[in-house]
Amino acid sequence: MTLGLISFLSVCIFCIQVPQGQTGCAEVDSMTEAVAGESFTLGCISCKRREEVPASAIVSWHFKPPGDEEFIQIFLYRHPNPTILHEQFKERLEWQGTTGTKDVQVGTVFIHNVTHNDSGTYLCTFNRTLHLSLYDENVIINKEVELTVVDEANRELVAVISEIMMYVLIVVLQLWMFGVLIYCYKKISAENEAREARKAARSQNKLIDSKDPCDGVYLE
Ligand SMILES: *[C@@H]1O[C@H](CO)[C@@H](O)[C@H](O)[C@H]1NC(C)=O
Ligand SMILES: *[C@@H]1O[C@H](CO)[C@@H](O)[C@H](O)[C@H]1NC(C)=O
Ligand SMILES: *[C@@H]1O[C@H](CO)[C@@H](O)[C@H](O)[C@H]1NC(C)=O
Repeated sequence: MTLGLISFLSVCIFCIQVPQGQTGCAEVDSMTEAVAGESFTLGCISCKRREEVPASAIVSWHFKPPGDEEFIQIFLYRHPNPTILHEQFKERLEWQGTTGTKDVQVGTVFIHNVTHNDSGTYLCTFNRTLHLSLYDENVIINKEVELTVVDEANRELVAVISEIMMYVLIVVLQLWMFGVLIYCYKKISAENEAREARKAARSQNKLIDSKDPCDGVYLE
């Protein structure tokens, strides 16, 4: 019985783990809030659908400030060379993606010394060539990251406010629970009293009812 359960569980774990183990690649979304003056990891992962097919990929990053219509190219990674293509990001972008192979699946870049001007929409593009046995196939994968840059002070304020809110919420919840308890207690005891009263009344009625025929008898 126990043995059966254990083997069932291990089969379950096996089933859960194998798909991840096979691909070794998981498409995690990027974070979207950076702190001014710090570094930020602009994440972009595109897993190959078929692990066994040899491929190569070129990754480019585009940026669009808030209010602008057009994306401008800011970065290109063509194995093994990263290139920064825009003045605003000069010396501030660092490749953190796949290295050592043309088969790039992680296109993540670091932004150093983030400024408020870095807020906006980032577009990450994988231009992947799949080397199939008969021909090459090109696939383009686009991913967007909406980045907001906040001040450290703001973030701390937000943290403090949310902490206060949490305590207020806990106290309010406890008071509410206490109120509900008192209300329920009162209601139940009132109901009990009413029931007792009804019971008493009923037994009196019964007494009266049972007396009635006797009254008739007496009257006759
Ligand atoms: C980031 O800022 C620090 C201090 O402001 C400066 O020393 C450093 O050179 C800057 N780094 C880059 C990559 O701009
Ligand atoms: C941000 O952009 C404004 C306007 O383009 C510019 O005047 C300012 O110097 C920039 N700030 C930084 C930190 O790059
Ligand atoms: C993708 O890369 C291939 C080969 O490097 C190139 O011919 C093609 O124009 C690229 N496509 C885009 C949309 O950049």
